[in-house]
Amino acid sequence: MKRIAILGSTGSIGQNSLEVIKSFPDKFCAVGLSTNSNIDILYQQIKELHPAFVCVRDKDAAVKLESKSKSKGIKLFVGEAGLVEMVQDKRIDKVVLAISGSAALPALLKAIENGKDIVLANKEALVMAGPIIMKKAGRKKIKIIPVDSELSAIWQCLKNEEKDKIRNIYLTASGGPFRKIGKKYLKNISVHDALKHPRWKMGPKISVDSANLMNKGLEVLETMYLFDIEPERIKILIHPQSIIHSMVEFEDGVILAQLSITDMRIPIQYAFTYPQRLANKLASVDFCELSRLDFQEPDFRRFPCLGLAYRAANEQGTTPAVLNAANEVSVDEFLKNRLGFVSMPKVIEKVLDKHRNIIEPGLDDILEADNWARREAYKFMHKLR
Ligand SMILES: NC(=O)c1ccc[n+]([C@@H]2O[C@H](COP(=O)([O-])OP(=O)(O)OC[C@H]3O[C@@H](n4cnc5c(N)ncnc54)[C@H](OP(=O)(O)O)[C@@H]3O)[C@@H](O)[C@H]2O)c1
Repeated sequence: MKRIAILGSTGSIGQNSLEVIKSFPDKFCAVGLSTNSNIDILYQQIKELHPAFVCVRDKDAAVKLESKSKSKGIKLFVGEAGLVEMVQDKRIDKVVLAISGSAALPALLKAIENGKDIVLANKEALVMAGPIIMKKAGRKKIKIIPVDSELSAIWQCLKNEEKDKIRNIYLTASGGPFRKIGKKYLKNISVHDALKHPRWKMGPKISVDSANLMNKGLEVLETMYLFDIEPERIKILIHPQSIIHSMVEFEDGVILAQLSITDMRIPIQYAFTYPQRLANKLASVDFCELSRLDFQEPDFRRFPCLGLAYRAANEQGTTPAVLNAANEVSVDEFLKNRLGFVSMPKVIEKVLDKHRNIIEPGLDDILEADNWARREAYKFMHKLR
C-alpha cells in the first residue's frame, strides 16, 4: 500500500489524483491532503478518505476547519510553513505536487530533502528552480515523475532509451481556444473566453496559460530541466486532437509517441504505478472515429509567450524565474479583469528586458529574482493603465 499526500487536493489535478486513488483501494491511500482555502471540498474529502493529516494555507479557513478536523482525529497543519512541515511526515511515501504556481516550491524542496517520491504536476516550481530541484533529487536518488500529459509522454517514450540518442522532442499542443483567431481579435478576449479550453478541464491559471500558449512555453522549460536537453532540440507542434501527447525522435530517425484519450487520470495513474502499468476502466482511443491527426507549426507572432519562453530557456540562470513570476502576476491581473489578454506578454517582455541575469543562481538569488520580477510587473502594469 503506497501512502500518498496530495498537495492541492481540492484542485483539478488534486481531485483527479483522488479518483485514481479511489479506483485502486488496495494499492493506494490518501494519507495527507491540502487546500489553499476551499475547506468545503476538503471536508468532503476528509469524510470520504479519512487522511491522517491535512493542511490549509489560508489561516481564516483553517480556523473554520479546526474543530471539525479535530473531532475526526485528523492533524491540521496551517499556512505555508504547515505545508512544509506536513510533507516531512514519515507516513508519506509519495507526494503529489498539485498546487498551482510558485507556492509549491518550498514544499517540493522539503519533500525531496526527506526522500519522498515526487509526482509532479506543478510546473512553475521546476521552471523557477529546475537545476536546484534536479540536483537535489539526484543527490537523494529520487525520481521526479511528471504528471503533465506531455512530460509524461516523453518520460514513457524515454523509458528504455539512451538520452544522448535523442534528435528532437516534439511537444504537442492543442493550440488552445484561440488557435484559429486572427491577431487583431485577440485583444478582445475576455476571461470567460480564455477559460474555455477545447480539450482539457483545468484550473484558472493553467487555462489562461494554455490560451496564450505560455503553458507550452513553460513545458519547454520543464522538458529542458527534467530531461536535461537543450531548447534547440525541443520543438512545439500544434496537434488539435490532443491524442498524441508528445513524441521523441531518435538519431536513427525512429519516432516514439505516446497516445491516449485526453484524461488526466491516465498520466496520474502512470505516475503512481511507475514502472508498472495497471488495468483501468478508462476509455481507449477510437482511431476509426477519429479518422485523422493534424499537425501545424505554432504561430510565434500571434502567441509571443512562446518566444519569451524560448528566450528564458536559452538564457537560463534567473531568467526562467523572472519569466514565471511576471507571468503569474500577469495571469492573476488578467483573471481580475485588470489586464488585457494581449498585454500579458508585453508585461513579461518588459520585465525580461530589465532583468540582469544571474548564471548558476542559488535558491536565494532565485527567490530574489522572483520578488523583483513581481514588483517590476506591477510597476509596468500601472503605467499601462
Ligand atoms: N489541470 C490540469 O489538467 C494540469 C495539467 C498539467 C499540469 N498542471 C499543473 O498542475 C498544477 C495544478 O493545476 P490545477 O489545474 O489542478 O490547478 P487548480 O485547479 O487551480 O488547483 C490548485 C490547487 O492548489 C491549491 N492552491 C492554490 N494556491 C495555493 C497556495 N498558494 N498554497 C497552497 N495551496 C494552493 C488550491 O486550493 P483552493 O482549492 O483552495 O484554491 C487547489 O487545491 C499547476 O501548476 C498546473 O500548471 C495541471
